[in-house]
Amino acid sequence: KVMDQLFGVHQLEKHLANHFGIARCVISAGDSDRQEKVVKNFGESLNESLDLLLPEGKNIIAVMGGTTMAQVAECLTNLESDKRHNLFVPARGGIGEALTVQANSVSAMMAMRSNGEHRALYVPEQLSSDTYRSLMKEPSILEVLNLISQANCVIHSIGRALHMAARRKMSEKEILMLKQANAVAESFGYFFDEAGKVVYKVPRIGLQLKDLQTVPLILAIAGGKSKAKAINAYMQNAPKQTWLLTDEAAANEILKGE
Ligand code: G3H
Repeated sequence: KVMDQLFGVHQLEKHLANHFGIARCVISAGDSDRQEKVVKNFGESLNESLDLLLPEGKNIIAVMGGTTMAQVAECLTNLESDKRHNLFVPARGGIGEALTVQANSVSAMMAMRSNGEHRALYVPEQLSSDTYRSLMKEPSILEVLNLISQANCVIHSIGRALHMAARRKMSEKEILMLKQANAVAESFGYFFDEAGKVVYKVPRIGLQLKDLQTVPLILAIAGGKSKAKAINAYMQNAPKQTWLLTDEAAANEILKGE
């Protein structure tokens, strides 16, 4: 019975990876919308995947924020060795989340749990363009931006467009625009329609979507039946080297239409 279930999940993983044309899917049993422990399983899968994939030498790992990222960060264990050293950085400047789920906090937590290092990127949300320009000349900010541009691993989640827009208190005008553009997914502060086309971008410094193409390791973590549409949309055009860590509920919902 257990072997049948394992075989079933393994088939589902292959099927979903083929569906998106990506490197690999890792599927946890259950539905993260309804079972807290499924997110813990994402964390364990992430830890194992990083241990397997991160090469020896110095790694720079750029991470995004969100509640999924904040929860999986807690699950990391030692990823350092004599030969492997990891530095965590936030992938982009603040995109309007509560402190505990901001990329800076996730990066600090991941570094703490895995015995790595981290650097924060302190850029306030609302800036005049003059202040912005002078901040961009600040050596401490330039140093972190430079690290982000050299990241060899990116870890991020995927959210539902309108849910994310409301949570980040985007303006009514922006929300109306997202609705008119049929935005269904959000990741990295970019919004996507069902075909995976970018329909809006929150302007922020740090990693841009086009930069992802040349990052060797990318892990996307998102699950739950409620996120199926968002995951399906974002993954259409995701870089092919992406590993998707998700759950059975999302995978079955995505493949239902086939
Ligand atoms: O960009 C995606 C969001 O960060 C996902 O947020 O993990 O809280 O659903 P969430």
